[in-house]
Amino acid sequence: MPKELLRLATAGSVDDGKSTLIGRLLFDSKTIFTDQLESIERTSAERGDEYANLALLTDGLRAEREQGITIDVAYRYFSTPKRKFIIADTPGHVQYTRNMVTGASTADLAIILVDARKGILEQTRRHAFLSSLLGIPHLTICVNKMDLVDWSQERFDEICDDFIAFAAKLNVTDLTFIPLSALQGDNVVDQSVNMPWYEGRPLLNHLENVYIASDRNLIDARMPVQYVIRPQRSDGADHRAYAGTVAGGVFSRGDEVVVLPSGFSTTITGIWGPGGERVDEAFASMAVSMELADEIDIVRGDMLARPNNRPYVGRDIDAMVCWFSDDTELRPGNRYVMMCGTRTTRAQISGLNYRLDVNTLHRDEEAKTLQLNEIARISVHAQQPLLFDAYRKNRETGSFILIDEATNKTVGAGMITAPVSKDSHVVWQTTKVTREQRTHQGATIWLTGLSGSGKSSLAVELERRMVAESRFAYLMDGDNLRHGLNADLGFSDDDRRENIRRTSEVAALFADAGAISIVSLISPFADERRRAREIHAERRLPFYEIFVDTPLEVCEQRDPKGLYAKARRGEISQFTGIDSPYERPADPDVLVTPSDGSPAEVAESIIRNLGL
Ligand code: ADX
Repeated sequence: MPKELLRLATAGSVDDGKSTLIGRLLFDSKTIFTDQLESIERTSAERGDEYANLALLTDGLRAEREQGITIDVAYRYFSTPKRKFIIADTPGHVQYTRNMVTGASTADLAIILVDARKGILEQTRRHAFLSSLLGIPHLTICVNKMDLVDWSQERFDEICDDFIAFAAKLNVTDLTFIPLSALQGDNVVDQSVNMPWYEGRPLLNHLENVYIASDRNLIDARMPVQYVIRPQRSDGADHRAYAGTVAGGVFSRGDEVVVLPSGFSTTITGIWGPGGERVDEAFASMAVSMELADEIDIVRGDMLARPNNRPYVGRDIDAMVCWFSDDTELRPGNRYVMMCGTRTTRAQISGLNYRLDVNTLHRDEEAKTLQLNEIARISVHAQQPLLFDAYRKNRETGSFILIDEATNKTVGAGMITAPVSKDSHVVWQTTKVTREQRTHQGATIWLTGLSGSGKSSLAVELERRMVAESRFAYLMDGDNLRHGLNADLGFSDDDRRENIRRTSEVAALFADAGAISIVSLISPFADERRRAREIHAERRLPFYEIFVDTPLEVCEQRDPKGLYAKARRGEISQFTGIDSPYERPADPDVLVTPSDGSPAEVAESIIRNLGL
């Protein structure tokens, strides 16, 4: 078994003792280390066969350099018998944001140093925010210089409480506090004798044991093709293979894969690891080459995925972007070269939604430009279709960089929050959901459409998927609600209005409690649907109207409950679409038509698009 690799990002200012801490880690763990990437590269090149080169090409760090990012991030390597570590040491000077974004974007764990005497400072908050923005799964707060506060447990607790109060606003899943003295070595590698009250592990022990295996996305199989190779094998045959670093999920020999954007499906006939060895499986972060059953025209920038689990394909995205350039500003309308995965295309900034003050988390919606180190929510329009996921689903396929064509410098790095698709099968608009709403955990997904349109099947799929991901989702179906909550209501216009009103109130309550309410109701009246949206907006809850636009003829042909036939025979009256109106949504958040695919596919796409 190869040793597991933990990627670390460190943040702190010069006086926080970061260098001392890193030095201490390296020194006390008695490992040989080097700052020189070159030597690592040489080592892997010296490993020797034809695949060594491939390993180099697909190495993550090398890839960053290939992309032309020149950064003040020093990568240091060390290992213990349990794990290997790469530390991206990002200096705390003025380029903090840029350095942290570039250095930490692949990190498993971020170490934030706090001076025990000073406590939580503005920059601690900034670093914590950036870590959460970058989706780093584990955050470790090292309260350093405990020797200078007399190893005081009280002081340590006070700092922890302070930080926890702030972190509540962030999306931090795993938070650990360690009191230590980097200078004296307490709780870095060896347990401190000066702080017997601390029952946790010393830092290195924590780093060796923090559970990262489940952080990897093993579900959404993605491999951006970086390189097409023709290795000569011992049998002399000339096989084409596709090399890249798996960005998510698992690929096994024999698996059916789809090649995007072309959409052709084929089967994996062979997988080779970085050393040229045959492997049965390739999983996230492995650099591999794959051979496919069919000769399909595949080029760099294409992506392999599963036929029933595809990345998003589209030209328009919403993203959080961090600006790196000190001599040019980002402005809507500007054009850049965009690299997303292994794909390169021209792109235009189509909107600047707001600029975020990293210190206060305040959103400035009046901002017109973006300068060095600033972060904003923007919309981007790419010339070529992009293959991507939301950043929170996949940090590899959800990120991109912007390059200034004139200078060839990397001027920004982005994290995709949501696709805005004009050319994909689900029409998605971001306009009506305010940004405050989007950050809220709960939400309502409101499905409207004729009886038999497929609302319920879609709703069931939506619920199933969310529950499978341990989300708190709850389905409210018109048919069921009419047995209880709305049992006193019939199908007159007034009763339907009341039906919609009650259901929207209940959905909002659920959403307010943090649930994803999934409502499936014919809800034929535009006014009532608008009111449902308003009820949510008043509480700053996201509300997504999904119009399941299945033509009446199709619904009638399906007639799952035989009700259309009854209505035609006059056995029931006021049947929607027959003798009771349905007011089509003019401007739904998502439009679903029968040609969009199975309920499962559409549900998948909706969850992805809405970033839920
Ligand atoms: S709504 O119009 O008030 O929103 P709701 O979604 O709750 O309707 O209920 C619709 C379901 O009730 C239909 O799927 C169908 O099974 C049943 N139903 C019975 N009578 C009617 C009717 N006259 N019009 C529409 N649906 C009816």
